[in-house]
Order: sequence, then structure tokens, then C-alpha cells
Amino acid sequence: MEEGTRRADLVAVDEPGRKFKVHARLLDQLHPVGELNQHPRNYNNGDVDFIRESLDEHAQYTPIVVNEGGYSERYGENVIAKGNHTYLAALEDGWTHIAVSWINVDDDALDRILVVDNYSARRARIDEGIVLDIVEERGTHGTGLTDDDVLEMRERNDRPLAFVEDEEEEAEDPADEAPSPPEDPKTKLGEVWIMEDQRLMIGDATKVAHVQRLLGAEKSVDVLITSPPYGVGKVYEGQDETTRSNEWRLLMDAWVAVWKKVAPVGMVNIADRKVGADHREEHTYGEFVELCKAAGWPLIGTRIWGKVLPVWFAGMYYTSSYRAVDEWEYLGLFGKAKFVKRLGEEDDWRFRGIWRIPSVNKNDDHPAKFPVELPRRYVKMLTDEGGSVVDPFVGSGTTLLACHELGRRGFGMDLDPGYADVTLQRFLDFTGIMPYREEDGASWEEVRDEVRE
Ligand SMILES: C[S@@+](CC[C@H](N)C(=O)[O-])C[C@H]1O[C@@H](n2cnc3c(N)ncnc32)[C@H](O)[C@@H]1O
Repeated sequence: MEEGTRRADLVAVDEPGRKFKVHARLLDQLHPVGELNQHPRNYNNGDVDFIRESLDEHAQYTPIVVNEGGYSERYGENVIAKGNHTYLAALEDGWTHIAVSWINVDDDALDRILVVDNYSARRARIDEGIVLDIVEERGTHGTGLTDDDVLEMRERNDRPLAFVEDEEEEAEDPADEAPSPPEDPKTKLGEVWIMEDQRLMIGDATKVAHVQRLLGAEKSVDVLITSPPYGVGKVYEGQDETTRSNEWRLLMDAWVAVWKKVAPVGMVNIADRKVGADHREEHTYGEFVELCKAAGWPLIGTRIWGKVLPVWFAGMYYTSSYRAVDEWEYLGLFGKAKFVKRLGEEDDWRFRGIWRIPSVNKNDDHPAKFPVELPRRYVKMLTDEGGSVVDPFVGSGTTLLACHELGRRGFGMDLDPGYADVTLQRFLDFTGIMPYREEDGASWEEVRDEVRE
């Protein structure tokens, strides 16, 4: 809770042998946590982390309900009828006491109370308009809602987002259009596809054999332009898909070790991430810079990609939970610095440390797609016409489109065949050029429309 912003009579005690945080009026209802028992049939898997956050933010404001057990034949004494998750959250936080309101019923009534208590909340019809009014005024912290929940609610309730005015906002780029990934991808791991001057492989960016196949006759390329994955496809309890993990670190170490030998210069787009249920921010980019330095691929310089973002939630209480990390990403340049004149007068963004480029609004095809304008600028800055560019995590093929448009030879890799399908279709839609499979010359159209047995 932020000091001085709210008023409430709370009592928080944290000393040897005693720990709790309750509203003052509940003090005389405190009971030792160790003497209470969870209902053995509690079927509701609540979010204990969220309740912990709420206990910390608001303290315990309502007692849990416990059955004395005088009439019980099966469950026994001190079984929790209502508030099983609050009890678990308090236990996890090391509380010794919790406020209790007592009942004395038989097992039959106890079971029914368990059911009605959970279902009455679930069946309630919520007026989301009022919820939105509240979180817009007060923020989401301690409400159990995430920013994504609010976004979805806004969509359902037809409350369009207001966007930050951006003096450089550009018209929508047709190159950013892309189809959605198929449920049943037609490309397969290990395949190489040719899209005129662009090569795409469905492969693993950390495997030297895959890298060699992608590059074909080339031993090296002029520049690497990429945005590596954040969550490595795994979602752990209490985290979301953007959460950094040990696997992330292993993947970063592995791909940098392989690709720094192939590309003397690399532009890597990375955002800091929020971690854990309390949305703490972690300097992911900083860690990446350090690991590149240790790998002998030092940082040359950093730019900020400033996105154009919704400005809802300017409430007074918003600061503690707002995920500012979503407003910008880093564009780090690694490897050997070189000074070359390539850009014209019109490319006035070249000296700027902050590039304002709207993120792609519609990204059903790839959740982490970057706008074509981003690789476009680096391709222009770092390569000559006819030069070569690699993107080891090419996703929906954005970097390859920029390369094709600017007459550079692009090499793209992605582990996910669904995204490879998107890349091929996107290239076809945008250029009218039919991609084909290297091993047998089959066209993308044939493979795409093939009916499987
Ligand atoms: C942040 S996205 C790249 C998005 C891309 N810049 C775009 O505009 O569409 C990262 C991509 O890395 C891919 N990926 C994850 N692990 C990989 C690996 N070991 N090798 C190759 N690609 C991988 C994911 O499938 C995902 O498409």
C-alpha cells in the first residue's frame, strides 16, 4: 500500500511468534492458523498469489468462516467453510493468526455452504462498465485484474482506447499486414524455402547444422537483425508467457555463441520484462548486453523504440502496478562498429536515439511481430544494395520483407512451422512472388492447398 494515499484502521504485526495483518475491528476474532483445517473437499482452485497480494494491499477485511464441528461425523473440528484460499495465502505468508467467524453445522450443511459460496460469486452478473470506471480511476493494483483483463473488458464493452499523440505517427504500413497462422501448418522442420532473393528455414537457431543449411553457400552475412523470444514458449505457474526464465538465458547464450561468428554486426530488439505475479520489472536487456559482452560481441550502442500506446489509466493509484515496460523496447547494436555513409537527406531518423514507430495494431498472425519500418531502417543503415541479412528468429518474416523491398538477400529461421507458413503467405500476398521448397521445387501454393490423407 502506498503511504499516505489511503486511510484505514489496520493492525499489522510481524514479530517472533505472531504475524497477521487485519482490520482493527477484526482483532478480537483472531485465531491461531495452526488450529484450522482446510475443507477436504474444497474443489475450487483459486489464485493464492492474488489473494496474498490482496492481503498485503488491503489486509484481511472479512473473517473466514470456520465450522466448530460439534455436529460433524466426517470432517471433524475447525474445518473452513468459506475462505480456504485466504487461509492458504495466510499460511504461505507465515501468518500465525487469522480472523475467524464461527459456525456450528453438520457435514451436510458444511458441504452445501462450500458449494453455494463459490457458485454465488461465479453466477453473479457483473456490470463491467462500473468495474472499468473504478479501475480507470484507481488503477488495477490489489483488484486482481491485470492490464490484459482490462483491455479485454474494454473491447467487450466497446470502449475504444485513446492513443498517445505521436508527432511522427505514420500511416499504416501495408507491409505489416499478415495472415493468421494455420492450425495445421504445411511446412515442416528442416525444410528450406526460397522466396526469390530470400531464404527461409524451419529450424533451430542454436543448431550449427541448421545455420549452415540456411546459409547455403554463404559463410557469413553483413548483418543480423532480430528479436529473440522472451518466454521460450513455456508458461510457468504464477508467470505469463513473457516471463523470463532460465531457459531464456540458456537460449540467449546458445544463439549468440553461434551467430556472432556469422555476423560481424547484429541489431537485437529486446524489451525489459515484467516478472511474477506482482509484475516486477526486470532489466532483461541489461542481462542480454552483459552476456553478449562476455561472448565477445560487445554493445556498440542502444536506441529506444518508443511505441504508440493507449493512455488509459492515468489514475492516482496506478503507478505501482503499471507495466511501463510495454511502452518501449531496446534496439541494441552489437559487434564491430564501422562508419559508412549510406543514408540520404530524407532518412532523418538516423541520428535519433529514440525512434517513434507505432507497433503493429493487428498482430493475430504473430503476437510479437515488429513493424517492417524497424528492420527497414537497420537494413538501410548497415548494408549496401545486394548485401546480406540474417534473422535467426524471423517469426512472421518481417525482416525478409524489408530485405526484399530494399534489394538485400535475406536469410530467416524460425522453429515454428506455423510462423513459416505465415511468412510464405505474407511474402506471396505482398510481392506476388510464389515461394518454392528448395528440396523438390514444390510451390507454396501446391503445398498449402495439398489435401492430407
Ligand atoms: C519475438 S518473435 C520474432 C518476431 C518477428 N520479429 C516478427 O516480426 O514476426 C521470436 C520467434 O522466435 C522463434 N523461436 C523460438 N525459439 C527458436 C529457436 N530455437 N530457433 C529459431 N526460432 C525460434 C519463435 O517461434 C518466434 O517466432
